[in-house]
Amino acid sequence: MSRVVVTGRVPEAALEKLRTEHEVDAWKGPESIGREELLRRVAGADAVVSLLTERIDAELLDAAGPQLKVVANVAVGYDNIDVPACTERGVVATNTPGVLTEATADIALGLILSATRRLGEGERLIRSGQDWKWGMFFLLGSSLQGKTLGIVGMGGIGQATARRAKAFGMEIVYQSRSEIDPGVAAELGARRVDLDELLAISDVVSLHCPYGPATHHLVGAEQLAAMKSSAYLVNTARGPIVDEAALASALRQGKIAGAGLDVFENEPSVHPGLLGLENVVLVPHLGSATVETRTAMAMLAADNTLAVLSDERPPAPIN
Ligand code: GLV
Repeated sequence: MSRVVVTGRVPEAALEKLRTEHEVDAWKGPESIGREELLRRVAGADAVVSLLTERIDAELLDAAGPQLKVVANVAVGYDNIDVPACTERGVVATNTPGVLTEATADIALGLILSATRRLGEGERLIRSGQDWKWGMFFLLGSSLQGKTLGIVGMGGIGQATARRAKAFGMEIVYQSRSEIDPGVAAELGARRVDLDELLAISDVVSLHCPYGPATHHLVGAEQLAAMKSSAYLVNTARGPIVDEAALASALRQGKIAGAGLDVFENEPSVHPGLLGLENVVLVPHLGSATVETRTAMAMLAADNTLAVLSDERPPAPIN
C-alpha cells in the first residue's frame, strides 16, 4: 500500500478509487493548503495528486523524498509543475487532457458571445437599478456571422472552440506549432496562418496555447496594436500569455473593442485597470467548472496515479 497525498478538495469518487488500493491523505480545508502544510504532508508520499493552484517544484519534490513516483495534476495545463525537476528525480508527471475539452470550449464561446453582445454590461446595468428601455441603438454589439475567429493554439480545446464558432457562422484561421489533422482542418474550413496575419485579420482572437517561457506575454502591446480596433480578445488558457497591463490600456484607449477573460496574469488578482472597464467580461477561471468535467478530471488523475503506482504506463503522462 502506497501513500497518496491529495493537495486539495477533489470529487469523492476519485478519492474512493484511490482508497481501494492505497492510503490517502487528502487536504479537506475550505481554503487552499498552505505551502508549509503542503511541504510537511508530502514527506514520505509515493504519489501527489495536485491542483493547479499548487506549485510543484524541486523544493516540494525534495520534501517528498526519493520514494515519490508520480505527480498527477488535476488539470490539462501543467505550468505549475517543474517537469524537468520531476524527470531528473525519476518522478512521472501526468495531466488530464481530453476530459475538459468541451467544457472549456463552451466557456470560450460563452466569453465570445458575452463580449461581442455586451452581456456583462447589460447585466450590470439592470442590477444597478438604472432606467432602461428597448432602443434602436441601445447596447449594440457585434455579430459573429461571417466574421473571422483566430485561434491561437489549435489543440483539442482550440479545435472544439472552432467547431462551435463555425456553427455560429464564423470563418476559422489558426496559428499552431504543428499542422492539425487535415480532415479536421477541412471539416472546419480552417486555414493555418502565422500570428501576425491572424492578429491582423481576426475579428475575435481566442487563446488556447499552453503557457510557458515561449508563450509568456505572447499578446502584449504590440500584438494588441496589430489587431483590428473592432476586434475582441478571449483568453481561456493561462493568464500570463497576455500582458494584462497592456490589455487594460488597449481596452481603455479603444485599440481593441473588447475582451473576455477566464484566466488572469496573477490569479486570483485581476489587474485593477480592468475592473472599471465596461468592455471586458471577467469570469473566475471556470473553464472546466462543471460537475461532470471536474469528476472526469479527478478520475483521470486517479487512474494516472494508480497506473504509475502499479509500475504501468499512465493514460496521460507528461514526461
Ligand atoms: C485548467 O485550467 C486546466 O488546465 O485544466
